Amino acid sequence: MCGIVGAVAQRNIVSVLVEGLRRLEYRGYDSCGVAVLAGGEPKRARSVARVSDLDAQVRETRLEGVTGIAHTRWATHGAPVTDNAHPIFSRDAVALVHNGIIENYESLREMLRGKGYVFVSQTDTEVIAHLIHSMYRGDLFQTVRDAVKQLHGAYAIAVVHKDQPHTVVGARQGSPLVVGVGQGENFLASDALALAGSTDRFAFLEEGDVVEITLDGVKIVDREGIHVEREVRTVAAYGGAVELGPYRHFMQKEIFEQPRAITDTIPQADQFDASLFGDRASDVFGDIDSLLILACGTSYYSGLTAKYWLESVAKIPTQVEIASEYRYRESVPNPKALVVVISQSGETADTLAALKHAQSLGHTHTLAVCNVATSAMVRLTGMSFLTHAGTEIGVASTKAFTTQLAGLFVLAVTLGKLRGHVDARQEAAYLAQLRHLPAALNSVLALEPQIIAWAEEFARKENALFLGRGLHYPIALEGALKLKEISYIHAEAYPAGELKHGPLALVTEAMPVVTVAPNDTLLEKLKSNMQEVRARGGELYVFADSDTRIVSEDGIHVIRMPEHYGLLSPILHVVPLQLLAYHTACARGTDVDKPRNLAKSVTVE
Ligand code: M6R
Repeated sequence: MCGIVGAVAQRNIVSVLVEGLRRLEYRGYDSCGVAVLAGGEPKRARSVARVSDLDAQVRETRLEGVTGIAHTRWATHGAPVTDNAHPIFSRDAVALVHNGIIENYESLREMLRGKGYVFVSQTDTEVIAHLIHSMYRGDLFQTVRDAVKQLHGAYAIAVVHKDQPHTVVGARQGSPLVVGVGQGENFLASDALALAGSTDRFAFLEEGDVVEITLDGVKIVDREGIHVEREVRTVAAYGGAVELGPYRHFMQKEIFEQPRAITDTIPQADQFDASLFGDRASDVFGDIDSLLILACGTSYYSGLTAKYWLESVAKIPTQVEIASEYRYRESVPNPKALVVVISQSGETADTLAALKHAQSLGHTHTLAVCNVATSAMVRLTGMSFLTHAGTEIGVASTKAFTTQLAGLFVLAVTLGKLRGHVDARQEAAYLAQLRHLPAALNSVLALEPQIIAWAEEFARKENALFLGRGLHYPIALEGALKLKEISYIHAEAYPAGELKHGPLALVTEAMPVVTVAPNDTLLEKLKSNMQEVRARGGELYVFADSDTRIVSEDGIHVIRMPEHYGLLSPILHVVPLQLLAYHTACARGTDVDKPRNLAKSVTVE
């Protein structure tokens, strides 16, 4: 999704800005641009191709400057054409980049037209540039502080004015913005990752903050207009995180990183303890009577899986909701519920808004399961469990999902223990299973050659069905999501028992039906559902545990999973589905890491 980089230095910063955009590329974008203050006015280059094209342009035109801003745009208002690409100018004096959506842009546009401003883009962003230009009286910092009071919606902005050649001003409300602190130079970015290589010292801005960066200073005011300091933290882990290494795509690299990611995520201690979730957790866990899980996309599916664990292991009622639905519906708050937000990025707009909505309804027990320690969600919740997947670049989430599952299983066992449903013997068994997971994952990854053979066939299909039951229904959902988002094959997932209630009408010899078949209590039921598919000519592609006695025969293709993994089986069974989607997408020649229309971190509604 949209990305911002800004810099004030004594050196030419164009390469820093372009490199920053390159580091944000993985988030998805459809145009990009950079502007610098050069020779007393802003100059820019914009591209509707890739950042590499923008780089070629700035080299060819010798664009240079010591102060500048840059942007990757994911279109919301207006098509991805050059006129709509940021930076957006106002009367060749102001240059501005913006993440988010300005909801009252139409009324502002009418007001500004009345003042003689001519609009050349279809963006909501252009109103901010003209508004700042119209209000500017020699102090950009003050102007932005006044101007943002008129904006409704979500934004992170960075702006420069030709009359202040060594100043960049930023502001945030609902979209992240971070200050990178250098020596004799300072930076702004929507994600600290953009500035890896330039600095490892960051101040994370809070909602409503406005910031001015100059060569040797950073000034911040909060939403009340009070001058504040934001803690500067050293975050060293960003450097080098975006190297592809020997892999063809980041998604492939991230699938193969899962054994390491799980090892880093599961607790080192020899027991499950509330303190794994923060200092307050032991009090809070003793006070709760239910869970409300809020998340989007793949993170929502990890919540759905966790519901099975939480209700069977911890015997605690659990409700899982899509964040974008929960935030707008009337619900009945239960102050004794633990609200759990699950997110790779910790910045997903809908999940953040759902969390704030829950808090506004009086929910005080909040926990984030998240991959980014410095994210808004971790900062807004009272407790957190950090997954240690490492930076996930591929838009299709893989290692973030399996590490979330590991974290949520730890939560279920911890609650089960506290509530008297997990004894010492069971606790030791669960811990041993968790510790063995990386080895088990390596055995599943070794199935890749067999999955590649299936992918060649899937690449020629236009539709696919995914079936699972119980704990593995959310895994079927995740498998279908993976396939559709990167291969563009239409895929749907159903609990296998639902087939006969409608989707069976879709089954013909042309329909591949991917089946997740663990050796659990529902196996015999699942086998009956498979027969329903075969009777209609459907082709079954089954990932079957070794002891299921499901064998390959006419119309039934079987890949045997190396071992049966009990309650943790979803973490193993999702991996072949990730590989199937990945190799199918490769065979179809799609842009695997940056699928069309999608963004890595969805920071707008
Ligand atoms: O960063 P989050 O986990 O909050 O993101 C939620 C979804 O946008 C994300 O999982 C999305 O569905 C992925 N592209 C799925 O692969």
